[in-house]
Amino acid sequence: MSTRRNDQITLVAFMQASNVSVYSGSWRYPSSAGDYLDLRYYQRIARVLEEGNFDLMFFDDRLAMPTIYGDSADEAVRYGARPIKLDLTAVLGAAAAATSHLGLGATYSTTYYQPFHVARTFATLDHLSGGRAAWNVVTSVNDAEAQNFGADQHFDHDKRYDRAEEFIEVVAKLWDSWEDDAIVGDKVTGVFADPSKVHELNHHGEFFDVRGPLTVPRTPQGRPVIIQAGQSGRGRQFAAKWADLIFTGDPSQTVAAEHYSEQKALIAEEGRDVDSVRILPMVYVIAGETEQIAREKEQIFLNELVHPTASLALLSEVTNYDFSGHSLDDVVTDDLINAVSGIRGLVQGVKRHVGEQTLTLRVLANHRATLLQGPRFVGTGEQIAEQMEQWFQSRSCDGFVIAATHFPGAFEDFVRLVVPELQKRGVVREEYTGTTLRENLGLERPANLFSEEREAQRV
Ligand SMILES: Cc1cc2nc3c(=O)[nH]c(=O)nc-3n(C[C@H](O)[C@H](O)[C@H](O)COP(=O)(O)O)c2cc1C
Repeated sequence: MSTRRNDQITLVAFMQASNVSVYSGSWRYPSSAGDYLDLRYYQRIARVLEEGNFDLMFFDDRLAMPTIYGDSADEAVRYGARPIKLDLTAVLGAAAAATSHLGLGATYSTTYYQPFHVARTFATLDHLSGGRAAWNVVTSVNDAEAQNFGADQHFDHDKRYDRAEEFIEVVAKLWDSWEDDAIVGDKVTGVFADPSKVHELNHHGEFFDVRGPLTVPRTPQGRPVIIQAGQSGRGRQFAAKWADLIFTGDPSQTVAAEHYSEQKALIAEEGRDVDSVRILPMVYVIAGETEQIAREKEQIFLNELVHPTASLALLSEVTNYDFSGHSLDDVVTDDLINAVSGIRGLVQGVKRHVGEQTLTLRVLANHRATLLQGPRFVGTGEQIAEQMEQWFQSRSCDGFVIAATHFPGAFEDFVRLVVPELQKRGVVREEYTGTTLRENLGLERPANLFSEEREAQRV
């Protein structure tokens, strides 16, 4: 096996600022904490993750309740199928105050927000946390979100990515609009900052007009860490150009390994160092003191806690297709697959898990509501560590986005049972080596665009 420059597995905790984890029935599990509206809940989980040397606590987001199913939020509300999503700025601020090394990542949409707002939010968080902010750049997924932001329908896919391209270019320039040494702070002369080092953008594009400068100086990381999770061709291209961390959702190691090498090739085509970008598949981890304990827990989360109608409502949400006219026992036919965009990969993934040739909506929806598309690592700490190391060493990934059954218990189990096994194998550090998230990930601090221009003019 050839040596690799990154010899440490990148560990990302997949978090929800919600009444549920990715398992939509998780709120019913006896030891799921119920104080998800209290800042101490997020602080408790953040401390557990820092104890386990996690690189990043990452929160997903959705800007609407699940309302696609039956054109109503009733089923999601009734069964607690993710009707709650808190704003992430305050949540990450709380987590920042309780930790000192853990990276703090949040999802913000390029379709429904404005670049100035997003640049300001993450620059502020980067300062207040001492350089630990990360932004997951998403283009959002469904009409329900559009309807909360003044539109009937979600924008077309290509248009969303066109807007995302312009959006991130503007954000990157706003983050650089203050050069690193712009603040002078001379109390004697009264000069606070050097105006020649604080720049307007005067950006006029297809989607945005932004004058700048940003109202926040350059941050400890220079540029907060960029995350991208697009799975389409456009999404992968965008990630290759901009991302530091790429999240994937592949059903098996074979698919993940192919995806890994294809994505690394795209990164190289962009002229970037392939080792400076981490590819991180999402996996479902259930750790137990014995394999039997872990398997029993798995059955409870997969089969006992989720209501089938809630599952179908969540399937509607992610596919932007109203399944309320279908029965749970309907077979997933080729016609249905053709009618629902983006469902083909999901059907193939679920078939791989359940091994059935004819699939009903009940089975598909249950797996979507609980499994999404990632593989499951279920067992003792040693068994899970073995699988993780195998994926890592065979270059199927650079680390993992770890989805939890429930909070904080699933991460407590992971940190107690799996992390020590990974440390024994030398693939997870014993303590943090840097101060900022970029330093802990071994990533360079990007040069400032305006300082570079000035240097180029001087030569
Ligand atoms: C681990 C992971 C986390 C994701 N988190 C979010 C999220 O919080 N919000 C969101 O709108 N989409 C999220 N997505 C979806 C992606 O951003 C993307 O929209 C989806 O994979 C479809 O790809 P495409 O946009 O390139 O078509 C996530 C995907 C993965 C794999």
